[in-house]
Parts: sequence; structure tokens; C-alpha cells
Amino acid sequence: MKNKIKSFLNKKNKRKIVCLTSYSKTMSRILDKYCDLILVGDSLANVLYGVKTTHNLKLETMIDHGKSVKLGIKKSLLVVDMPKNSYKNPNQAVKNAKLILKKTGCDAVKIENNLYNLNIVKALKKSKIDVMGHIGFTPQFKKKFKVEGKNNLEQIKLLKQAKNIEKAGAFSIVLECISSKTANKITRSLKIPTIGIGSSSFCDGQVLVTDDMLGLSGFYPKFVKKFVNLEKIIENSVKKYKREIIFKKFPNKNYSF
Ligand code: KIV
Repeated sequence: MKNKIKSFLNKKNKRKIVCLTSYSKTMSRILDKYCDLILVGDSLANVLYGVKTTHNLKLETMIDHGKSVKLGIKKSLLVVDMPKNSYKNPNQAVKNAKLILKKTGCDAVKIENNLYNLNIVKALKKSKIDVMGHIGFTPQFKKKFKVEGKNNLEQIKLLKQAKNIEKAGAFSIVLECISSKTANKITRSLKIPTIGIGSSSFCDGQVLVTDDMLGLSGFYPKFVKKFVNLEKIIENSVKKYKREIIFKKFPNKNYSF
């Protein structure tokens, strides 16, 4: 296990872990100063490419964005999402994860877990590839959004799933849209850190899609706090730019040769 992963794991029970998504060097250069982990999430299919699902995202697309994000990173742990259909069986998963690691220089990969792909986590671990799990609302496998873990039966199932993923060798798990009670129970039952998105402050760390928390994506479900309205700020700047061109204020002699 690499030192970067070890120091990530050591944060559990010491301080909260700070994570965000990034799809480019421009963004990761800023995030790197404040984040412990930067995720090249397959949410880029929705956020950047404007498609409804993440299901048809190509491995090459994730690799291209991973390369760009890596250019902006000096210290954070870099994790790249494996797109759906790139880890259908253990051999394919290991081959594609190795390609992602080699081409992007990332530290680890993330897969979404269903009830049938524990063998993928095991195979990656066996090949010494650090892997992050993802349970609860997993857009690669679930069509309809639902908060999970609200009743006892769901809590038992999710807890068992999380424990199995830990046992299979994942170094961390994303808990997406899981009830506070269940997220708390899972977090207290695992040795590895849980990273929540819409899963309460009981998780060991938090992640959000950066474009959402900056007010850029236009997608603001209950769990997203908009820390700034960047859409408005950009719009005002572009409006000003247009005005200055029309009225011949820009470029003046300061910006000319
Ligand atoms: O794809 C993504 O951005 C993610 C986060 C929402 C955890 O998986």
C-alpha cells in the first residue's frame, strides 16, 4: 500500500476527510490546496457532456480527464472512476484499472458496487491496485433515485455490503444518499474511512460534485450546498466583457501592442 493511501487512512477518527470531484487541471490546481482526495468522477458524463446517464462513458474519456486533473495535483490522493462496462469481470477490471493507473498516474480507482461485484474488488486488491467502493445510490446500476437505509432491513443489507467490501480489500467507501442513522452505523463498524455524499456528517469525510457546490451545474438536490453562485459571477463578467467590446473600451492601449 502506498504512503499516500496510508496517510489517507490514518485520518479516520482524527479529522474529517475533504474530497471533491475534478475533471480538469484548471480545477484540480485550486482544489489540491484544500482537498485530501480528488475524484475524477464519471459524473462528468452528466456535468460536462450533458448526457442523462453515466452508462455509455468510454474508458478513454475517463483517462483523458484523469491526465488533465493529474497535471494540477501536487499532494492530494487522485482517484479515477472506472466507467460502467469497464469492470464486467475480474480480468477486464484488472486490465482496465492498470491502464487507468499507467496513463493517468492516479493513485487508485473507484468502482460502484452492486450485490454481484465483490470479486472485482478482490481481483483488484490481489493485483495490488488500490480500490475505493461506492454503495447506496449508485447511478451505474440504479435507475431511480432513492435514499437508502431508512428501514432496518435496508440498514442490515447496506451494513453487510459495506463490511464485505472492506473485507474484499477496498481502502475506502463512498456512501451516496444513505440515511444518517445507517451512515453512522456503517462508519462506526468499518476500519476504513467512509466518504459521504448526501449521507450526513456521521461519515469520516465528505465529497460533492465541484460544479454543484460552486453553483455552476444547475443541479441542486437537497444534499448540495451551493457555496457560491459562480454561474451569476461568470454571467456578470461576460456581460461586462460584451459591453466593453461594443463600446470600444476593451482592448484599450493597456492591452494592445
Ligand atoms: O461520479 C462522481 O462524481 C461520484 C461522486 C458523486 C461520488 O461518484
